Amino acid sequence: MLPDLPENMSAEQIESYIEAHDFVPVNRTVQVDDNLYQYLIDSSVREPELLKQLRAETTLYHMARMQVSPETGQFLALLIKLKQAKRILEVGVFTGYSTLSMGLAMSDDAKLVAIDKKQMWLDIANRYIKRAGLQKQIQTRCGKALDVLHKLMKSEAGTYDFVFIDADKINQLAYYKQAKVLLKSGGCIAIDNTLWWGNVAKKEFTDKDTQLVRELNAYIHQDSSVDIAMIPIGDGLTLIHKK
Ligand SMILES: C[S@@+](CC[C@H](N)C(=O)[O-])C[C@H]1O[C@@H](n2cnc3c(N)ncnc32)[C@H](O)[C@@H]1O
Repeated sequence: MLPDLPENMSAEQIESYIEAHDFVPVNRTVQVDDNLYQYLIDSSVREPELLKQLRAETTLYHMARMQVSPETGQFLALLIKLKQAKRILEVGVFTGYSTLSMGLAMSDDAKLVAIDKKQMWLDIANRYIKRAGLQKQIQTRCGKALDVLHKLMKSEAGTYDFVFIDADKINQLAYYKQAKVLLKSGGCIAIDNTLWWGNVAKKEFTDKDTQLVRELNAYIHQDSSVDIAMIPIGDGLTLIHKK
């Protein structure tokens, strides 16, 4: 049923009513608790067998929780398809779950460059990349991401369609700025962990990482050269479209 319309209000009266009030968004209808989030996963995630195996193997290693969640991996895959991304860049590979999620979704003529500072993680990722038959399309590079991105900026600025950032928080803002240079106009960046365990919204959390994520979010929020959306999936994923 439609709400009652204010009777006999002139356009001017409506304008001054709007000016006199602060309006909070009222169109959030879903409270996502653990139960509903599990439903979301159960009724939408279709994890390929190879990714299932990679996720299982990763539980053997310490820091397994660094891996993106299956629903985040699937969302990245969908973005790659929607964008028809041909040139993809990833910062923070770990054992390769997000790399492979995007790699399995990209077309035969697409290429992905994936950066991590630890060869031991790239060795695992490369094993799965080979099993997927994607070794010609996915190139892993070992090094500090700031340096690798800096080198790429010299010859490949403005050539990438999609960048996924999921590495150390201390350099995240620098990665964002570098990624924007590397991106084509119309390209897209996705950044993981932007809701950081939900701690970003809790004042009592004043640790370095939480503050760095807040700073990044604030910076992106005021950046008028991009369009943005913050998605409450996994640990929070911000999507950025370079105008
Ligand atoms: C959260 S994990 C990435 C998870 C991965 N996206 C996945 O789905 O499994 C972060 C990764 O960033 C890498 N990393 C951290 N600091 C880095 C740096 N300065 N340069 C390059 N890689 C870095 C770590 O070695 C780690 O593998």
